[in-house]
Amino acid sequence: MIPSTNIESETQPFVLVQSTAEEYRINTFDNHLEWGGNLTQQQYYDKGMAGNDVHGGHRGWHLKSSTSGEIVASCETFTQDAMYCMGGSAEIKVGKCDSVASVYVQPKYRGKGYATMMMKALNSVSRSQGTLYIDLYSDVDPKVYEKCGWNQIETPTLKLDTTQELGFTPVDTTGSNITIITNANIQSVIDKDHNNCVADLKKVASESDPSTYIFSTLFTLEKFFWFTIQHRLSYEFQNLEAPTEYGRFLNDSYIIWSHNCRDNQLEILKFHSTNLDEFKILLQSAYNEAKKHDLKTVYMWWSTNRIGHVVQFLESTKYQIEIRKNSIPMVTAFPPSGIESTNYKWISCEKFQWV
Ligand SMILES: CC(C)(COP(=O)(O)OP(=O)(O)OC[C@H]1O[C@@H](n2cnc3c(N)ncnc32)[C@H](O)[C@@H]1OP(=O)(O)O)[C@@H](O)C(=O)NCCC(=O)NCCS
Repeated sequence: MIPSTNIESETQPFVLVQSTAEEYRINTFDNHLEWGGNLTQQQYYDKGMAGNDVHGGHRGWHLKSSTSGEIVASCETFTQDAMYCMGGSAEIKVGKCDSVASVYVQPKYRGKGYATMMMKALNSVSRSQGTLYIDLYSDVDPKVYEKCGWNQIETPTLKLDTTQELGFTPVDTTGSNITIITNANIQSVIDKDHNNCVADLKKVASESDPSTYIFSTLFTLEKFFWFTIQHRLSYEFQNLEAPTEYGRFLNDSYIIWSHNCRDNQLEILKFHSTNLDEFKILLQSAYNEAKKHDLKTVYMWWSTNRIGHVVQFLESTKYQIEIRKNSIPMVTAFPPSGIESTNYKWISCEKFQWV
C-alpha cells in the first residue's frame, strides 16, 4: 500500500504520494534541470537508477493536487541502517533512519509553500513509520527546512587544492603496511568502521546526560557502492577510464574516498585515524589520488562528535578548517516512544551521509 497523507492548503487539497517507477522517472527527468550537469536526461536517470539498484530502501515521493492530479513537487528518500543509545547508557540499539534528497518544486509553482508542505508531510510519514531520525543536506538557505522542523548541524570542512603543495612535509605512502582499498577488501574496512561507530556512540553516551538521544547512521557496503557505481558511470559517459582504488588502510586507520569527476573532486566518505603519523599518510594518499586523476580538490567534512581529534591533527598542518555555509546537514530526531529526551547528538554527518 502506498503511504499518503492529506494536507490542506488554503485553496486546495494536496497529497503526498509515493511515486510509481514511471512517476519517479518523470520527476527525475524534470529535476535534471537542477542536478543533471553535462549528462543527458537519460544518462542522469540511468546513473541514479544504478545507485538505487545497489541501495535498498529507495523511494520516490511527490506532492500532487488531489483535484487536478498535477505534480507540483517531488523528492526521494533512502532508508538506512542506524544505531542509537541514550546518554549514560552503554546499551546500543539498532533501527532505521531516512535521508531525503532531490527536493524539487516545479519552477512555475515555486514560492507558494509547496516545498514546506511536502517536507512537513514527509516528516510526519517518516515519524509514523518508526524511523529514528530523518536527515537531509540543504543546498539552499537552511531556513527553507527549519520551517519544517529540521535543525542545522555545524559541519567543519577541509578542502585541499591539489594545484597547491601539500600542507606538511611529504611522508611515505607506499609502505608495505599500507593496503589499497578496492572492491575486494572494502567489507573488512566497513566492519572496522562499524566497530568504531559503536565505540563512538558509547564514548559520546558516557559523556552525555541521560536525556540525550545519540544516534548514528551506519556506513554500509551498499552505501559505498551507491557512491562508487554512480561516479564510475560518470567516467564511462565521458569515455574516461574509471579509477579502481577507493582508499587506504593501515593498522586501525583508514580513509575511503570516491571520485566525483562531475564536480572535479575526490570526496572523502570515511576517515578514521588513531595517530598523527597515520593521519598524514592517509591524507597525503588522498591528495596523491586526486592529483593522479586530475581532480582539483580533496573534499572532506565530518561530525565534530565523531572525529574531533582530526581537528587537532589538522592544526599541526597549515590547513584552514571552514564551517560549511551551504549544503548543511540538517536533521529531525524522533526518539523512540517511551524515551524521554530533551536533546540529541548526531554523530555521523560525514560525506557518506550525502545522498
Ligand atoms: C528550494 C525549493 C525546493 C523551494 O521550494 P518552494 O516551494 O518555492 O519553497 P516554499 O514556497 O515552501 O518556501 C519556504 C520558505 O523558504 C524560502 N525560500 C524558498 N526558496 C528559497 C531559496 N532558494 N533561498 C532562500 N529561501 C528560500 C521562502 O521564501 C519561504 O520563506 P517564507 O515562508 O519566509 O516566505 C525550490 O525553489 C526548488 O525546487 N529549487 C530548485 C531545486 C533545489 O535547489 N532544491 C533544494 C535542494 S536542497
